[in-house]
Amino acid sequence: MEKELYLAAGCFWGAEHFFKQIQGVTFTEVGFANGNTDNPTYEQVYTDTTGYAETVHLRYNPLQVSLGFLLEMYFKAIDPTSLNQQGEDRGTRYRTGIYYTDPDDLPFINFSMAQEAPRHGLPLQVEVQPLRNFYPAEEYHQDYLDNNPTGYCHLPVALFDYARNNSDTATLQKAEKYALVFKQLQTLSEGETDTIALMANTAALLHETFRFWWTGYYRVVGDELLLGPFQGPVACMHIPFGRGVCGSAWKKNRTLVVPDVEQFPGHIACSAASRSEIVVPVRRNGSIVAVLDIDSQNLSTFDYCDRHWLERIVAQ
Ligand code: SME
Repeated sequence: MEKELYLAAGCFWGAEHFFKQIQGVTFTEVGFANGNTDNPTYEQVYTDTTGYAETVHLRYNPLQVSLGFLLEMYFKAIDPTSLNQQGEDRGTRYRTGIYYTDPDDLPFINFSMAQEAPRHGLPLQVEVQPLRNFYPAEEYHQDYLDNNPTGYCHLPVALFDYARNNSDTATLQKAEKYALVFKQLQTLSEGETDTIALMANTAALLHETFRFWWTGYYRVVGDELLLGPFQGPVACMHIPFGRGVCGSAWKKNRTLVVPDVEQFPGHIACSAASRSEIVVPVRRNGSIVAVLDIDSQNLSTFDYCDRHWLERIVAQ
């Protein structure tokens, strides 16, 4: 499983070197993003008239490093309040930007931006946009600092060490726990065909292992969702199709991850304590028969790692 992200962080030589140190980043290349001409060359971009930003294209394994962690690192490598200038490099080509190809990334990016903003006295100048276009830069720009260790870089060497020495332990530990839960559930459910019994033990094991706030199922009964086996406080019993996070996941026929429930229009607050949520459809013979809903008392508890494992868990 791999995801990708495009980050403009000023001069791309140092930025690429920085990001490639992070555990879980599986691929990097430098190039030009979100500009207005076809096949730009470095010289053209250097004139600062093409609209392109020097950008690092990253691929990463979300079971090793979360988008949130990558963005935390990103903010360490830039001055997010500086418009069109990083270090001594000036121009729109050195602007900062987070460009995404998966619209599901946007709530996480917005969350990271909102977390970062109060740390600075000035407004953030980082643009957040879908990726419109990207052209890899000429070969000699790729892995520039590996090939030119004394080359120019606006980033301090200590930052590269920092990226190398700090892994996303929260994600690594979470992935390890899920792998174990997955195995335990395989054993527990061997030979059992009763859906309610299986749901009950799945909810119990997940809830015990991760100490979530609320872990349970809503079953599709007629044209609504009806409360099923769960662990945690008393909850709403009926949820209409398309309503709340649960009803939306059913309607959209896909997993929904909500880093901040207050930012989800129509979220149903069974409990005011719930602050982030994931809802995973449970399918049998191609149709949705239930949703697995997990709530947390903390913001941004769930990400692609949870999604990956929970989708596997409900499919078994
Ligand atoms: N918050 C959910 C409702 C279910 S409770 O979280 C248990 C929703 O918006 O669908």
